[in-house]
Amino acid sequence: MKSLSLFSLSLFFVSIGAAQSNKAKELVSRMTLEEKTHLVVGMGMNIPGLAQNNGPVIGQTMDKVPGAAGTTYAVQRLGLPNTVVSDGPAGLRIEPFRNKDSSKSYYATAWPVATLLASTWNTQLVRQVGTAMGNEVKEYGVDVILGPALNTHRNPLGGRNFEYYSEDPFVTGKMTAAMVNGIQSNDVGTSIKHFAGNEQETNRNSVNTIVSERALREIYLKGFEIGIKESNPWTVMSSYNYLNEKYTSENYDLLTTVLRKEWGFKGLVMTDWFGGKDAVAQMKAGNDLLMPGTAAQSKAILEAVQNGTLDEKVLNENAERIVDYILGSQSYKKYAYSNKPDLKAHALIARAAASEGMVLLKNNDGVLPFANDTKNIAIFGNTSYNFISGGTGSGDVNEAYTISLVQGLSNAGYQMDGEIQAAYNAYLDDYRMKHPKKGFFQEFMNPTPPAPEFTVDKALLAKKAGETDIALVTIGRNAGEGRDRKVENDFNLSAAEKELIGNVAEAFHAKNKKVVIVLNIGGVIETASWRENADAILLAWQPGLEAGNAVTDVLSGKVNPSGKLATTFPMKYEDEPSAKSFPGKEFPEKATAGAFGMKLVPGEVTYEEGIYVGYRYFNTFGVKPAYEFGYGLSYTNFNYSNLKLSSSSFNGKITATVDITNTGKKPGKEVVQLYISAPADKLDKPVEELKGFAKTTLLKPGQKETLSFTIDAKDLASFNTDQTAWIADAGTYTVRIGSSSDNIKQTATFGLASDIVTEKVNKVLAPKVPINELKQKKAF
Ligand code: BGC
Repeated sequence: MKSLSLFSLSLFFVSIGAAQSNKAKELVSRMTLEEKTHLVVGMGMNIPGLAQNNGPVIGQTMDKVPGAAGTTYAVQRLGLPNTVVSDGPAGLRIEPFRNKDSSKSYYATAWPVATLLASTWNTQLVRQVGTAMGNEVKEYGVDVILGPALNTHRNPLGGRNFEYYSEDPFVTGKMTAAMVNGIQSNDVGTSIKHFAGNEQETNRNSVNTIVSERALREIYLKGFEIGIKESNPWTVMSSYNYLNEKYTSENYDLLTTVLRKEWGFKGLVMTDWFGGKDAVAQMKAGNDLLMPGTAAQSKAILEAVQNGTLDEKVLNENAERIVDYILGSQSYKKYAYSNKPDLKAHALIARAAASEGMVLLKNNDGVLPFANDTKNIAIFGNTSYNFISGGTGSGDVNEAYTISLVQGLSNAGYQMDGEIQAAYNAYLDDYRMKHPKKGFFQEFMNPTPPAPEFTVDKALLAKKAGETDIALVTIGRNAGEGRDRKVENDFNLSAAEKELIGNVAEAFHAKNKKVVIVLNIGGVIETASWRENADAILLAWQPGLEAGNAVTDVLSGKVNPSGKLATTFPMKYEDEPSAKSFPGKEFPEKATAGAFGMKLVPGEVTYEEGIYVGYRYFNTFGVKPAYEFGYGLSYTNFNYSNLKLSSSSFNGKITATVDITNTGKKPGKEVVQLYISAPADKLDKPVEELKGFAKTTLLKPGQKETLSFTIDAKDLASFNTDQTAWIADAGTYTVRIGSSSDNIKQTATFGLASDIVTEKVNKVLAPKVPINELKQKKAF
């Protein structure tokens, strides 16, 4: 290293002192030891048949908001009420009915899933969604919503990927900040989760995530860091897994050294539900609140203080952070919540957000939007009739309705072929009858498989190709908490699905009619083997309760698509850099008993691809994906010109400006991405990394907008493990402005004269075993 800047020294080991208020300290000083040991443990959970094992600890207020995930302990004599926390990332998950009274409902808005929201690349819009979501939290009497969730799309099979934003930490961080700022503008809290290294569901309570310091800092912690610094979430939820041998909830280095001392987080940390093992270690680590809470945990903490293995001062700090949270809560302020949020107004926001995050993957010969004379549609695919608004598990929402694609098209005045509809409805009704709806918990333990794809007779297809104007086929996927997806019949289409697409294409193309495929999915699937059969492909994700209306807005051209991928679609599963190591090894011979009668099978997953996640891998190693990160088409075209940098040498910061002009025939918005290529002569570096993005306003044909990006020293820095520091290496940097990670339209370079240490951090969280990490074949 040539020289250290002064700037770096000022950031050396930023240490934040105790942030708790005097009022909290005073209240905790008046509590008995028993009260404190109850306060740091939630009130348990009402699961029929499981109460004897897991709670409730003390039977109060479980029914203030039925369906909420948990409540905190009240110290009534000091004026501290119970507070309520409830899932989740796609909207408030509470029971829609209470006490079997069907005259009054408590539905919440099912918002588009996080992956769709990230695909909008529109932080203002995500903030608007957050503001409306937070209003429902407040008006239903909840204090903290357990979201957003921001683990990384490390592998397409991750069962909860739909709850997470992206494969890229910059997108993740910016989306998180927008969402948290929106929700918390209502004076209710968020819990950003699952901190950290929880990129899979397989053995989620027992898997040891083995990851290098650099990959951890640059990929898996970065989104959390940005989110925390830019939005101050009230709470953070630690994850279930071990991280480099230690449970995250028992990990002082993670929860105190990094989260609080380095990043300045001032709120409380809660466990994931029944997460971790050792309540006392959790207190010491700075995991203040154990959720949902068991009597055994309070007892263990009490005994530890009494026998001197837990310093009461540590417990006091945990309790003070909880009291500070309670003092800011709506429950403490006795807010008179209405139980009547404006669901109609929110549905309009959900519809707008949904259509803005859909990604047009293919559009040959301008098939979309539908021509004016498209009236009669032949609509195939089980999911067209049963559209999926969002994923399963705690990320699900109890919404009043989901508009199916058939309904959405019909609301917009299109005709759907009746004969096809009747056949699908009969098939799906029969399946539903044979698979009655189960309760939430039963479904979680033993999910109902989706109906196998209905086979449409070839003769019927030939007839319908003559009678209708266009064919639509929806391919649907659902997944969620508790299990990861599979390659066969999930990531890959089933034989029946491929056959359907093939047969529809054959019949309709024979009559010169077009075929549009709609993907109603929460995570990435294989597209390369069948996409030739489609004239257009619209990736609709899982778009929330207004699903069918939002898809129709795009198909009809009412909305010009402007979503772009925030996660890569590979040609095939094996191309994924994590394919070899996902979901890791397991050691069944060491299984122990876990919660809910489930077995805890120890496992380990090694993040061997290191920093080469998503496009960082595909672009650096020259592996062509099916659709690259940042990709998405529009009904219009944009021209990029006039990239200018404020200086050709870096001196604290650089501004880049670029002109975007709508050169097509329809109004549209463009997502513009700024990537940086950094000098890589000292450290392995991806060919480019996203460091900025912006979305234009709705540009009319011919209209131009100048977008501006600021690059500062930290945008140039990589994590240097040997020096335990973020360092921007001296050399030449290239600013690459593109419409996707693979479609760079303008470049410009600037120089950095000498190295800058932007931040020196603590040597913590290192793996305990060597990792054979993926590297470019370069000698340093
Ligand atoms: C999930 C969390 C959720 C919690 C409460 C856990 O199983 O992992 O994301 O917030 O349950 O429902």
